[in-house]
Amino acid sequence: MKFHTRKWVKPEDLNANESLFGGRLLQWIDEEAALYTIIQLDNERVVTKYMSDINFVSAAKQGDIIEIGIDVVKWGKTSITLSCKVRNKMTHQTIISLDQIIMVGLSESGLPKIHGKTEIEYIKDRIEEND
Ligand SMILES: CC(C)(COP(=O)(O)OP(=O)(O)OC[C@H]1O[C@@H](n2cnc3c(N)ncnc32)[C@H](O)[C@@H]1OP(=O)(O)O)[C@@H](O)C(=O)NCCC(=O)NCCS
Repeated sequence: MKFHTRKWVKPEDLNANESLFGGRLLQWIDEEAALYTIIQLDNERVVTKYMSDINFVSAAKQGDIIEIGIDVVKWGKTSITLSCKVRNKMTHQTIISLDQIIMVGLSESGLPKIHGKTEIEYIKDRIEEND
């Protein structure tokens, strides 16, 4: 699993227990999944279709640096299934894990669009191909 994104837990991210608010964490995960999907499907119109059980394993507190990891579980026809783990950058303790996040790529008319992708691609390779 590649951990692309780091976040710094700030006062505005906390719940009443003074630990990281779950809604904020899910917002960060959803954004990371969307960015990952936009890049992989080469399509800016993507939506979150489904998220599996969400397991909040441990809490993060103010000042913690956390990192968000995403992996591809399955390439569908119009969808991509991702897994996600968020961990403490310093201790690698898991904060949350999701086995399945299903993202769907849409056409301009807002319908599921066949993407034809079957493996992870890197932007630098796409750029080199087009040079
Ligand atoms: C995403 C959306 C266009 C899909 O429409 P749909 O009628 O379910 O379309 P389809 O049945 O063709 O399914 C599209 C893909 O989603 C998958 N899918 C649909 N329902 C699913 C479910 N309940 N669980 C898992 N995957 C599902 C299908 O397997 C298919 O994948 P594939 O083409 O790779 O095999 C529609 O459900 C939608 O607009 N949902 C709201 C999305 C949204 O607003 N998200 C929050 C904001 S980003």
